Amino acid sequence: MAAIQEFNKVVIVGEAGVGKTCIMAQFIENKFDIDTMSSLTTQFKRKTIELKNGKNITFDIYDTAGQEKWRSIARLYYKNARVVILVYDITSKKSFEEMKNYWYEQTKQIDVENLVLAIAANKSDLYEQRQVDNSEGEEFSESVDAIFAETSAKNDSGIDILFDNIGQKILDPNFDYLAEEKKKRKKNNKKENEREEKEEKEEKVENENSNNIENKKGNEENIPPRESFRVTTKTFREPKKDKSGCCK
Ligand code: GTP
Repeated sequence: MAAIQEFNKVVIVGEAGVGKTCIMAQFIENKFDIDTMSSLTTQFKRKTIELKNGKNITFDIYDTAGQEKWRSIARLYYKNARVVILVYDITSKKSFEEMKNYWYEQTKQIDVENLVLAIAANKSDLYEQRQVDNSEGEEFSESVDAIFAETSAKNDSGIDILFDNIGQKILDPNFDYLAEEKKKRKKNNKKENEREEKEEKEEKVENENSNNIENKKGNEENIPPRESFRVTTKTFREPKKDKSGCCK
């Protein structure tokens, strides 16, 4: 195993009930506790993981209380934070709005070079009650240069990848967690463009063919029927009369 890196302080914030404690419990102890009590204090846990790139990293994770009355306390933990994870609940539009308008705004006060921001769209297992589209979370994350992951502390999904991406970004500030995704999108766009071009060409050929058929038909309709050439015209003139009324 590679040498252990310095400790990296991670602060998890977001509205009460979005699942901060559960995300931490799932990440640290691989468990999901349905009956978690609303946090009254800030808990702290440490964990070292091996990243996908083979490097090790240690996180000191602080799970803060989301209730309004504890908001000012959560702020105290921003000191020396290396990472802030902003959590919202995909079944609560309000938690998403508060994440953007309050919790994200608060992070602007953190005076740390290369602060890593991450956004966890939690409770993805409750997709049937979804109030926030994945794309809304992704768009906001891209706009603030934050790592984004849909997570479910209940189903243990998305949490490992979230911390892996955070770890890689700490070690390499230029790390682009969307690189793979962007490559895929580019490939799909290329395929899509090729398909559209092919369809356009086919449509053009089809139009040309049907125009040709129409023209041919039109020409045929303009040709007068053979009979019309046989019509002969006879002119009848009145006989000239002299003074006596007799004909000449
Ligand atoms: P505060 O401590 O009050 O700030 O809340 P919190 O953000 O720490 O939320 P907590 O982890 O205590 O979870 C709140 C409730 O949501 C609990 O009933 C959890 O069982 C539930 N919960 C958390 N994560 C998930 C999830 O991914 N899916 C589902 N279905 N429920 C979850």
